[in-house]
Amino acid sequence: MEKLVIKGGTRLKGEVTISGAKNAAVAILPATLLVNGICHINNLPNISDVKIICNILKELGAKITWKKENEITIDTTEINSTKAPLEMTSKFRASYYLIGSMLGRCGNIEVGLPGGCNLGARPIDQHIKGFEALGAKVTVGQGKIHAKAKKLVGTSIYMDVVSVGATINIMLASVLAEGTTTIDNAAKEPHIVDVANFLNTMGADIRGAGTDVIKINGVKQLKSEGTYSVVPDQIEAGTFMLAAIASKGDILVKNCIPEHLDCITAKILEIGGNVEDYGDSIRVSANKRPSKASVKTLPYPGFPTDMQPQMGVVLSIANGTSIINESIWESRFQYTAELNKMGAQITAQGKTAVFEGVDKLYGAPVYASDLRAGAALIIAGIIADGVTELYNIEHIDRGYENIEEKFRNLGANIQRISE
Ligand code: EPZ
Repeated sequence: MEKLVIKGGTRLKGEVTISGAKNAAVAILPATLLVNGICHINNLPNISDVKIICNILKELGAKITWKKENEITIDTTEINSTKAPLEMTSKFRASYYLIGSMLGRCGNIEVGLPGGCNLGARPIDQHIKGFEALGAKVTVGQGKIHAKAKKLVGTSIYMDVVSVGATINIMLASVLAEGTTTIDNAAKEPHIVDVANFLNTMGADIRGAGTDVIKINGVKQLKSEGTYSVVPDQIEAGTFMLAAIASKGDILVKNCIPEHLDCITAKILEIGGNVEDYGDSIRVSANKRPSKASVKTLPYPGFPTDMQPQMGVVLSIANGTSIINESIWESRFQYTAELNKMGAQITAQGKTAVFEGVDKLYGAPVYASDLRAGAALIIAGIIADGVTELYNIEHIDRGYENIEEKFRNLGANIQRISE
């Protein structure tokens, strides 16, 4: 077991370089199954979720060569199985992208029902609705999903719920289908655009990604030997932006796309922080206690749910009473109980949490419930008085590359200790 030990009282200062986006990488890697050839992928984040999906793809017969820490060549010519290992896929949420990819490639796949962070019920009815609309037969039972299709035929699909995963998965299943597929009420997150850009680089014909109507004209096959670089991680960049505000520091966030961060920037300005946009980097600083705010998480371009815990830390020490309404997930306030152990005064009820801003937090032993809660508790430990021991950090390693090193380079007193 490992833990992070953080000695608080630091104002973070300096530069941090953002890694490739986790939520793009975990979709692009399964999408290589549609290429049925060789892909060169750069700027992959060195995180455990990427390692897991690479291992699952190898189990299916893919050949993967790590050229450097963040760069692979993957050959999906020889896929010799349609059964993804249940014990691996059931623990890993994004394994559902194997369904859209393998339906498109060979019309047959069995995976474990997806696990992932405990944010409440994580249904996949919209994914299944899309696959069935394209002509697939999907059965769910004994903890697994089996999808089969003799042929996939393009059609129009109206999403009942704005869903990142379902939008990407239906896009994957449509790329090699016969005819045109239209996804209405599609999600618009930057990582969806990145998956579409990857597929188009390999010869797909996808238009409108990033808007709420995506059109996919099916093609006969994709082309091999393409090279693609994963988009910078919007959520990692936002995490460091809010770390600057919480610690009254001054951080230059490098290798990011500021327009992906507009909603976070707007909130930071609203609570009294400073933001300077340099095109491919963004400088965030604060020299006073943040003002109170009201936050509602929404699909992109609204305030990201994956930034909600990090915002919670800022509001826990803000001036006045703040409120967060979590509209996406039923249960994404577990971190508030951990912050209350550190002296915060937060009342969480269902999808709403009320934050009575306190002057300061105090170090304590706390537990990460998911990767964004874990990142938030690192920020809390950095600004608290005293020492914080953070447990269950395997959650954080799923989605943040070298996180303690990045914070240490900004002045944080943080060590990873093996128990
Ligand atoms: C993706 O999850 C991200 N994960 C999540 O990030 C993120 O919180 C979420 O999108 C929202 O932005 C990955 O990309 C691997 P959804 P996903 O489908 O695709 C409901 C992180 O921290 N819904 O957009 O599973 C669902 O219950 C993780 O990086 C259905 O009802 O989320 C939720 O209320 C945590 N039926 C809402 O839609 C469905 O078939 C949004 O879910 C699918 C979803």
